[in-house]
Amino acid sequence: MAFKLNSVVPWGRNLAEYRLMFLLNDEDMKKKIAGFGDGPASFNCEATRQGHNITSFDPIYQFSTEEIRGRIDEVRDVVMKQMSENTDNYVWTHIKNLEELENTRMSAMRLFLEDY
Ligand SMILES: C[S@@+](CC[C@H](N)C(=O)[O-])C[C@H]1O[C@@H](n2cnc3c(N)ncnc32)[C@H](O)[C@@H]1O
Repeated sequence: MAFKLNSVVPWGRNLAEYRLMFLLNDEDMKKKIAGFGDGPASFNCEATRQGHNITSFDPIYQFSTEEIRGRIDEVRDVVMKQMSENTDNYVWTHIKNLEELENTRMSAMRLFLEDY
């Protein structure tokens, strides 16, 4: 079955979030890292700029920058609306509120698109 971009919710985290999420310490970062399902995260871009060796895999990479940017623009408001309706289901320790969440996600995805 063909992979359709309009069924994907591209939503990307940044390097700092990846390091927390996967407990990546400085020694881990010296290894070759394969990121499966990295999507529009800025993990690869930021880590590569720091000299690390990251290879990302994701079916959305068959699409162009403009196609992925278009899909991000389509889902952004939908995701943020759902988040605003479910704030009690999330822990707001690192990211303090919805505005910070949206800014963090959009800046990660902007970096991804610049680098892609
Ligand atoms: C919500 S995004 C999260 C991206 C990134 N992991 C992050 O945390 O910032 C989920 C990603 O998983 C990808 N994905 C879905 N099915 C996949 C599969 N079977 N293999 C690899 N990636 C997949 C999607 O294309 C999408 O880019």
